[in-house]
Amino acid sequence: MKIAIGSDHAGYELKKTVYAWLQEHGHEVEDMGPWSDDSVDYPDYARKVAGTVANGGHDQGVLLCGTGVGVSIAANKFKGIRAVLAFNPEIASLGRQHNNANIICFPARFTDSEAIEKSLENWFAADFEGGRHERRVAKIES
Ligand code: RB5
Repeated sequence: MKIAIGSDHAGYELKKTVYAWLQEHGHEVEDMGPWSDDSVDYPDYARKVAGTVANGGHDQGVLLCGTGVGVSIAANKFKGIRAVLAFNPEIASLGRQHNNANIICFPARFTDSEAIEKSLENWFAADFEGGRHERRVAKIES
């Protein structure tokens, strides 16, 4: 898949783990920044990633900030974006299965590389289950 990734300064280090995992697993990854841990504003990077996923430039996105809350709030402002805050690997699966989420967000200050790798594994292994969840997701969109 074509995946866009981004973070703020708090997520910068673990973004490298995400980039490496995605490349190793055959995805086409575009890192939309930042490229240092200098302080930045998370909405700027959430906008880049959510914007390209919303307009079809990328299939899915990954965002990180300190809590994951800021980037998920910002990303969910975009029509067609369903960003899930994956605070553990099970939430990553459920975000795909129940919510058809297209952006996964991580709380960089409250997780580690191992949990992120397991979450990414779960995320890409899971499919949207449709059925009753289809109706609920449609209500969000409307
Ligand atoms: C940055 O200090 C922090 O506020 C940010 O990474 C994030 O946690 C916001 O939701």
